[in-house]
Amino acid sequence: MLDLINVSYDTQIPNNVGLSSDRRVLKALEKWHPGYINWWKGSGPDGFLEDLVYLRTAVSVDPKGWAKFDYVKMPEYRWGVLLAPQVEGRVIPCGEHFGEPAWQEVPGEYRSMLRRMVVIQGDTEPASVEQQRFLGVTAPSLYDLRNLFQVNVEEGRHLWAMVYILQKYFGKDGREEADDLLLRQSGSDEKPRMLGAFNEETPDWLSFFMFTYFTDRDGKMQLEALAQSGFDPLSRTCRFMLTEEAHHMFVGETGVGRTIQRTCEAMNEAGITDPFDKDKIRALGVIDLPTIQKKLNLHYTLSLDLFGAEVSTNAANAFNAGIKGRYQETKLDDDHQLQNATYAVSEFTDGKILTRDVPALTAINMRLRDDYSKDAVGGVKRWNAIIRKHNIEFDLALPHSGFHRQIGAFNGAPVTPEGDVISTDEWKARRDEWLPSKADGDFIQSLMKPVSEPGKYASWIAAPRVGIDNKPGDFEYVQLHMA
Ligand SMILES: [Fe+2]
Ligand SMILES: [Fe+2]
Repeated sequence: MLDLINVSYDTQIPNNVGLSSDRRVLKALEKWHPGYINWWKGSGPDGFLEDLVYLRTAVSVDPKGWAKFDYVKMPEYRWGVLLAPQVEGRVIPCGEHFGEPAWQEVPGEYRSMLRRMVVIQGDTEPASVEQQRFLGVTAPSLYDLRNLFQVNVEEGRHLWAMVYILQKYFGKDGREEADDLLLRQSGSDEKPRMLGAFNEETPDWLSFFMFTYFTDRDGKMQLEALAQSGFDPLSRTCRFMLTEEAHHMFVGETGVGRTIQRTCEAMNEAGITDPFDKDKIRALGVIDLPTIQKKLNLHYTLSLDLFGAEVSTNAANAFNAGIKGRYQETKLDDDHQLQNATYAVSEFTDGKILTRDVPALTAINMRLRDDYSKDAVGGVKRWNAIIRKHNIEFDLALPHSGFHRQIGAFNGAPVTPEGDVISTDEWKARRDEWLPSKADGDFIQSLMKPVSEPGKYASWIAAPRVGIDNKPGDFEYVQLHMA
């Protein structure tokens, strides 16, 4: 009998989907595999291919013990295909097919909509690996280096997850899309990745932590929405991906938190109380809090753009078709069809920020984005608690959702982080007050000196409170083959 909990390692590709008896898909995946390894070597982490990294690998989809930890060379990582177990009697949770049995095959009428959704999700996974390609050489510790690589291999696995869906359920065009996922490149002029934030640079480790906190959280929300899909294989694959995603956001939240902690400690030690005393604080080899706020502003707003236009017929169609649900759809107490419901959407009209009720069906993106913002606020509160603990008067905050937007109602609107509308000229003149300037970037870059002694950390970041897999503080998370 097929074991749907534990992962089978009897094929080249570990899986819990019975690949060894699904020759067609197994063959397609095996054919795709060498191209993937090529991509990993050419676009994945630069260097470190021969080093032993202490990584977790999924061995089960049982939430109680799904991973094992061991040293592995990254190109030999066992990227697998894992789906959360099928839920007996699952029904389509929303839209016009509400209550009908979930689809086990692609419904013909929604085929292209579904494929596009899988491709867009799939495209983000390798993109982030490409964006983070050069971070390894400046890692502030072996602990952080290992976390970077853990995130990278799992984003690689998420690509596998989407490629499996494409190859199993979408025939020839699915195979072509799978190949194209290895051809597009983050930041490329000719063949860029599909979404804006995934073509931005991740130039330093603070960016990496902000990215994993804010942009991986967008990933979480998209996966949550797709986990509600009436197309059951997609739902199952996204549910398992969410298990892994939690660690990525942990890396982001604790990474930013440790950066803040180190700054506050250094200020306390030097007797500096004014968080805006930039030169003195920077001279301590730490990142001043206002600059951390600017980084937050940048990554939060880039991530807001990923939710698309506030009012969207595409989003309405996907919901109506039962292809994509709302956040925690099955827990919501309404008709799940949004026949008469409205939803408040903010817009920018005649230089004013207004709120307008629109049919809730068309505001699916806005709603998911609002859920995202609520989710994102938690970490900010915990960061502020660190600052308060050190008796420093400074509060980090999420900027207004109209600030620095390039998609949707506020595209190009001259809104400040506080939500005030100013003139475009003034906005441009004050840009560097709110977003990282070239000089800020150069300063942060100057701190990015690698530290590779076990248990040691760069000047700008505190040690973590606990190790990965409960390892002691001086654990050698990466065994560098040449020091
Ligand atoms: Fe991912
Ligand atoms: Fe992620």
